[in-house]
Amino acid sequence: MLNSIIAIAVSYLLGSISFSILFARWLRKIDIREHGSGNAGATNTLRVLGKGPAIAVFLLDIAKGSVAVLVGLWLGDGKDWIPVLCGLAAIAGHNWPVYFRFKGGKGIATTVGALVVWAFVPTLIAGILAILVIVFTRYVSLGSMIFAVCLPILFYVFDLEAAYIWGALAVAILAIARHRNNIVKLMNGTENKLGGSKKGEP
Ligand code: G3P
Repeated sequence: MLNSIIAIAVSYLLGSISFSILFARWLRKIDIREHGSGNAGATNTLRVLGKGPAIAVFLLDIAKGSVAVLVGLWLGDGKDWIPVLCGLAAIAGHNWPVYFRFKGGKGIATTVGALVVWAFVPTLIAGILAILVIVFTRYVSLGSMIFAVCLPILFYVFDLEAAYIWGALAVAILAIARHRNNIVKLMNGTENKLGGSKKGEP
């Protein structure tokens, strides 16, 4: 029990390391949450800092999700719900980081990292669908939401353990809730397109 609590707490603290906020501070001495879309994530890092930092942020945000789940598998005594809770804790840390006044990102890269360890193939399929949506529409937010919504469906189709299906459902609900501003902008045509002009800045 103590091991499980430690694993979940470590996952939250790990998820709270917001690489987009840190890179923006180090490289430009700015708070990324006051620029572009205002989101502390890889997409906004691309807008504000450029390709190199965005790739680094994306990979590091993925890595913290994966490491959190690996910690859960290591300390979880073979119980499925520990790596599930560790993944969710890392995503929660990314979204509400304890080190940065609880104002973080939307958790998609961290979700990718956590869920490839939960179940590689269904997460890969959801990822490919998301990439296709992004390539054809140039809306990263739309691709992110499609990715998140496909996860519980694919986990169910792949007949995974219940803990993982419930975890994926929680991830999807969280992702949609975090994208509510993007949904409004998509509906009124002001959402930012990848590589496009910056509409709807805060
Ligand atoms: O993962 C975040 C992405 O879906 C949207 O980011 O900055 O365009 O709101 P942003």
